[in-house]
Amino acid sequence: MKRVDRIASMRAAARAWRAEGRRIGFVPTMGALHAGHLSLVTRSRSECDVTVVSIFVNPLQFGPDEDLSRYPRDLDGDVAELESAGADLLFTTTPDEMYPPGFETHVVPGSLAEPLCGASRPGHFHGVTTVVAKLFHVVAPHAAYFGQKDFQQARVLQRMAADLDFDLELKIVPTLREQDGLAMSSRNRYLSQAERRVAPELHRALLAVQREFDGGERAAAPLAEVGRGALAACKEFRLDYLEVRDDETLRAVDRLRSGGVAAAAAILGTTRLIDNVLLGDAVRRLG
Ligand code: PAJ
Repeated sequence: MKRVDRIASMRAAARAWRAEGRRIGFVPTMGALHAGHLSLVTRSRSECDVTVVSIFVNPLQFGPDEDLSRYPRDLDGDVAELESAGADLLFTTTPDEMYPPGFETHVVPGSLAEPLCGASRPGHFHGVTTVVAKLFHVVAPHAAYFGQKDFQQARVLQRMAADLDFDLELKIVPTLREQDGLAMSSRNRYLSQAERRVAPELHRALLAVQREFDGGERAAAPLAEVGRGALAACKEFRLDYLEVRDDETLRAVDRLRSGGVAAAAAILGTTRLIDNVLLGDAVRRLG
């Protein structure tokens, strides 16, 4: 695997590949890689000629009271994982290079970034859209891969790519889970043993919503109540939100039609976990 740690060298590599007519796949990450990240690499490899992975812990998307300083970093471990997953190039950069003195231009997302995580993490999604827009310019991919695990992020970025005419396909890859259902996440490393044991309850609560949907319920409020009720039984969690929404606009609706998304965020100890399940035929609208 090739490694570059400068924007200029990344641009040069992308330009050379494009000149050869190679299709570039791109997986942006913040490192501390796990099998979920690697599934994006595998998908990119199956659809593209070369796969670029970036690792950059983006300060712009962390709030002042969030976990930027303790966010897990393990570059050597990440390199080993990426080598075995068959990535072609690892691009790393620094906050100084991405946001030099004088930097002041941001990409501001619209209504998709307002509810759910956008409400509890003000400014988070504009940090994400800004860094991903910059990464898209530098890496110049034909296709970019994002996890369904961060469903709102993926929808916000699809909208950004369409609105700002990025010439690429943005694909959403299903969430990879531990055997007990917990969505894989770099932040799972923060969990104590006791917290880790109860953590899958978040997914179970969302599955309860899915069962209710599959049983015929289409009204969003009672669907969400089923999930909240299931999670309330688990006292260790502090619920941030559990909502049932339209899977494309993320807007609140009275009744779902053919599908939707049940999305939740909850705090376990000091760790904020998020998860979602798609309802009905929403999976066909992943893009
Ligand atoms: P990070 O949390 O490192 O995630 C990188 C990518 O991996 C995201 O697209 C995320 O949705 C995906 N991912 C995480 N867990 C997954 C799982 N269990 N199954 C499938 N995919 C999973 O998301 C970010 O970084 C950042 O916001 C970023 C887009 C890199 C911008 O800084």
